[in-house]
Amino acid sequence: MKMAEKTVADWYASHPISAPHILTKLKSLRGSLEDVTPQELYPYDQDHYDGLEANSRLADKVRMNAGDSVLDVCAGLCGPARWYVSQRGVEVTGIDISPNRVDGAKELNALVGLQDQIHPILASALDLPFDDAQFDAAVSQESFLHIPDKPKALQEVFRVLRPGGRFAFTDWVMHTPLPEDEFEQYRQRFACQSLFSIPEYESQLQKAGFEIVSAEDVTDPWGEILARRLSMYQTLDAEAERAGNPSKGDDFLKMYAQFVKDVQQHRIGGVRLTAEKPK
Ligand SMILES: C[S@@+](CC[C@H](N)C(=O)[O-])C[C@H]1O[C@@H](n2cnc3c(N)ncnc32)[C@H](O)[C@@H]1O
Repeated sequence: MKMAEKTVADWYASHPISAPHILTKLKSLRGSLEDVTPQELYPYDQDHYDGLEANSRLADKVRMNAGDSVLDVCAGLCGPARWYVSQRGVEVTGIDISPNRVDGAKELNALVGLQDQIHPILASALDLPFDDAQFDAAVSQESFLHIPDKPKALQEVFRVLRPGGRFAFTDWVMHTPLPEDEFEQYRQRFACQSLFSIPEYESQLQKAGFEIVSAEDVTDPWGEILARRLSMYQTLDAEAERAGNPSKGDDFLKMYAQFVKDVQQHRIGGVRLTAEKPK
């Protein structure tokens, strides 16, 4: 594992959205872990903004059809994957660099009986362990911010998609370059390695061979969502500590508040990009 990837995996090892935390929470809510459905996990297993709506939008963007073979790049605990499988009837392969997330994804998939339709794999987005043109569609949410060599990751997604296949993803973007000392805080507190602007993303997708289908600036809706997420983190962090899981602490929460401010002031923001591999 490269240094940047190790930093990310270490960061996610103490993230409040984790399988042990979800299982502890579910057990306390329903008494046992028998007959759990994917729907019961959704409030806790989606590590991106705008919950299930965001999955639905990406599924529409890539024109996900029942039976499709879908790649989720940086799939986390496979929360979105369980939704795609349950709601769109597809099969999902989810790669992620963090061992605790891949193990957690396997545990949660088995808990709800989706272990045959979802394949979590420990791998880097920079070196996808798949054949060329293997997937009908690819998706990703709030993950490329952790990847320093984004052009390489885009080339890898392009390679494993079949001609005519689409890649739709959301990610942080930089609207106004931040002073180095401010960006350093994002590196340290969020394991954020680098950020593109929206035009840079479009240009790098085209360099990788994609045709751009759409580029939507989602900064305004994210500003509102992130303010709500800050309160959720404050609650989760306190709960994680009580359950004996590592807490991210006050510094993380302070930095999150700064992030919310930067998004609301359009210094940093979000984009939903859809691109197609030409036929
Ligand atoms: C914000 S989480 C998103 C998880 C998932 N997409 C979701 O929406 O629930 C970002 C994920 O990206 C993964 N990640 C970061 N860098 C990666 C890389 N180079 N290769 C694979 N996964 C990576 C992290 O381990 C983490 O699980």
